[in-house]
Amino acid sequence: MLTESAKEVKIFPLETLRNDDVDLLAQPLSYRSNHPPIDFESDCGTLPVQGILPTGLQGMLVRNGPNPLHPDPTQHWFAGHGMVHRFEFANGGVTYGNRWVRTQRWYSEREGGAAELRGLGTAAPEGLAFDDGVANTNVLMHGRRLLALEEAHLPIELDAATLGTRGQVDFDGALEGAFTAHPKLDPRTGELLFFSYGGPDGLGRQMTTGSIDATGRVTGVSEFDAPYASMVHDFAFTSRHLLFPVMPLTASAARVQAGGPAHAWEPEFGAFVGLLRRDGSGEMEWWKAPVCFVFHVMNAWESDDRIHMDVMQFDAPPNFPWPDGRAITNAGHARLCRWTFDLRGLERVATSEVIGNATGEFPRIDERFAGEPYRHGWLAGHTPEDDSGLFTRIVHVDHGSGRQTDVYALADGDATSEPVFVPRAADSEEGDGWILSVVFRGAQTRSDLLVFDAMHVSAGPVATVAIPHRVPNGFHGNWIAACELALSRE
Ligand SMILES: [Fe+2]
Repeated sequence: MLTESAKEVKIFPLETLRNDDVDLLAQPLSYRSNHPPIDFESDCGTLPVQGILPTGLQGMLVRNGPNPLHPDPTQHWFAGHGMVHRFEFANGGVTYGNRWVRTQRWYSEREGGAAELRGLGTAAPEGLAFDDGVANTNVLMHGRRLLALEEAHLPIELDAATLGTRGQVDFDGALEGAFTAHPKLDPRTGELLFFSYGGPDGLGRQMTTGSIDATGRVTGVSEFDAPYASMVHDFAFTSRHLLFPVMPLTASAARVQAGGPAHAWEPEFGAFVGLLRRDGSGEMEWWKAPVCFVFHVMNAWESDDRIHMDVMQFDAPPNFPWPDGRAITNAGHARLCRWTFDLRGLERVATSEVIGNATGEFPRIDERFAGEPYRHGWLAGHTPEDDSGLFTRIVHVDHGSGRQTDVYALADGDATSEPVFVPRAADSEEGDGWILSVVFRGAQTRSDLLVFDAMHVSAGPVATVAIPHRVPNGFHGNWIAACELALSRE
């Protein structure tokens, strides 16, 4: 039963670009699953809630994803200007708003009015004063700044109250070039660990890594070269090491000049993981790894001279081509795998084993345990037989109970985004808290925000927050606790 009505809904359509929501059923099959963008920005008052909102949930979920100004079924999912969605839990209710990240590319396309579709790996439009990317992959708070991230450019700061764009952040001139969309907050030190790849043209072997302290100050940057140029989407850390997976989704400027793809699958290059000590001692060590493709790491930690890294492992990268442009058809589903690095061994070779039966993507943890031994993880899952491309399940992996999974299966046609964990309290047990998932309702062409007890996802949501429109498929988001939010708004 709906307990409250939506109110104070403000819609700010971009008049020159306005068109009604896309008819999903008229789109190619691969485009129906909530990929098309929405063409408006909004601020909604208290949204209708079914169930009971946990009183301890005080703060804001922010999520980011590509939302092109011009729908195009042929466009790569990863392309498109970032749109950030906020769900603020306060005063017993949830309010919502969404804004495009107003980058220079966004202004250029909007003012041009033409379908200049720009995304990862594409050149900036001509005449741009400077190129600050599309900021479409992740959004998080650090050092009292709300940052929208995309791995080819520096972060874009947003106003945490309005989501208005404040502009690119170079940390007082300390950084330039690229910055990962997956920096890692070390809960022990408060540092935000980061890396970049690609060098000046985005297609080189050059990489950097460094950290930003809790006040937002860059405290160190070091440079290194990868074995070859590739797309490096994510990395990992432990108490003592940084880990950089380099897999053969290669990058090549020469291939682009010859009319080929910027990134292509070349498994013959082999796969590697760079291990770097965080205390600055020692050189980068490149370990051989299984030839496969990984977008995302669940967690990593050390014990008994071994490093472990849990990843979602594909046979090959989905959504990317072979060097000759043919589509990859053997990517398979990503399985949760544990990579182990035995520091006592003579061979610098990482092993991989499938753990549990979870298939899916977008792994998350209770991030108070990032870099440490941990028990609980969550991901957007599907059944191994499902080739729809939809994430139809919210999956809890409990490494401490024989690697069992607890699963909430959505209704036919529905699909979930990445599940985000929120602890019940700062000092609660690992996994004691909630999972927040934005879910597309296929039958209604609309989205809901579901709130689960993180330890009992199969019991179904404890609260369902109704959003009046679709939230298109996005990538990543994070929870900002109310106290942190208040500091950022001072
Ligand atoms: Fe990602």
